[in-house]
Amino acid sequence: MPGNDRWIHRARRLAASVACVLPAAAAVAGTWDIVQPILEERCTGCHSGEDAPLGLSLEDHAGVMRGSENGPVVIPADPAASPLMQRLTGAAEPRMPLDGPPWLAPDQIAAISEWIAAGAEAPQADAPPAPRAAPAADPLADGVVVFGEVADIFRRRCIVCHSDNSRLGAPPEGLRLGTLADILAGGERIAVIPGNAPASEVFRRIEGLARPRMPLDGPPWLDAGQVALLRAWIDGGARDDDGRAAPIPAGGEVRLRGMLTGPNEIDGAAFEIDAGTRIDDRPSPGTPAEMRGRVAADGRLIADRFRAR
Ligand code: HEC
Ligand code: HEC
Repeated sequence: MPGNDRWIHRARRLAASVACVLPAAAAVAGTWDIVQPILEERCTGCHSGEDAPLGLSLEDHAGVMRGSENGPVVIPADPAASPLMQRLTGAAEPRMPLDGPPWLAPDQIAAISEWIAAGAEAPQADAPPAPRAAPAADPLADGVVVFGEVADIFRRRCIVCHSDNSRLGAPPEGLRLGTLADILAGGERIAVIPGNAPASEVFRRIEGLARPRMPLDGPPWLDAGQVALLRAWIDGGARDDDGRAAPIPAGGEVRLRGMLTGPNEIDGAAFEIDAGTRIDDRPSPGTPAEMRGRVAADGRLIADRFRAR
């Protein structure tokens, strides 16, 4: 039946032309529709919310164009002069994303550059709004804190210094805080003793018990909720994302500096003195003291040296 054939042919042509137009329109390089998912995937983990680094939120077009506390990061029609591009290529340091490598793929960097070159246009008015992340559930609610619930605190507030992309050239005290393995490995000393937050340097520094207080570029310091969450994570065994508690870093070196709050206790962190402990001018409670020692297999701290400071 020739009539029917004609219709089928037309329908096919129509389908082909639609198929041709739609994906092509969506795939044009260098539009906000291409840029936004890249930022979502690699940037907004840090650059969002109230504590976005340098106040730079990359969650939506308005935030990107608002820029940071230093000023605009996107200069329409001038990718080379745009701080955002300079961070992506490594022309300005630290290179972004800060937790790289991997850095963005060359075609992703090219797409962002093209978008800026074409004027860094806003999304079309009829574009569907970007999906909003659901408000995070209270991570303390179930009583078990896993690494994924504290990872963003380290990413947003610590790795700018404590990583190999560090502002400081090398991570201070050799302490990298980007991954769970690095955090548990510690630097020159053990920084997290699973099950014992008061004796863990990470907790002591964010609480302000040990000086200088961290993050070193604060204030702002971590807020009370973040400090409580990190404390619960460490006290709960510094669990990984599968809920497994971290092993005790037996034999690892520790150092506590602070106020003696009991005969063998600095800022609430208890330690033991044994026959091998060297004691110089035994400090009295309420005065500054230093303990250097190691972690026993059961997590207790054994002092090698104990002295007034
Ligand atoms: C792991 C956290 C993290 C991730 C992921 C991240 N950033 Fe950053 N970003 C930071 C921190 C921290 C700073 C501040 C660094 C400094 O003090 O120079 C920063 C600074 C910047 C700046 C400099 C702003 C200015 O005023 O100079 C730009 C631009 C930037 N980031 C863009 C990006 C882009 C684009 C991405 C994704 C491709 C990204 N960042 C991913 C943490 C992150
Ligand atoms: C602006 C840079 C910077 C930032 C951000 C920063 N630190 Fe530090 N951190 C340092 C420096 C520098 C030192 C060495 C200071 C000293 O003890 O003399 C240090 C030391 C430490 C130590 C002591 C290590 C040891 O072996 O004695 C810990 C623990 C620590 N930081 C944790 C953190 C945590 C946790 C964060 C994030 C909440 C953080 N830091 C953010 C710069 C920084």
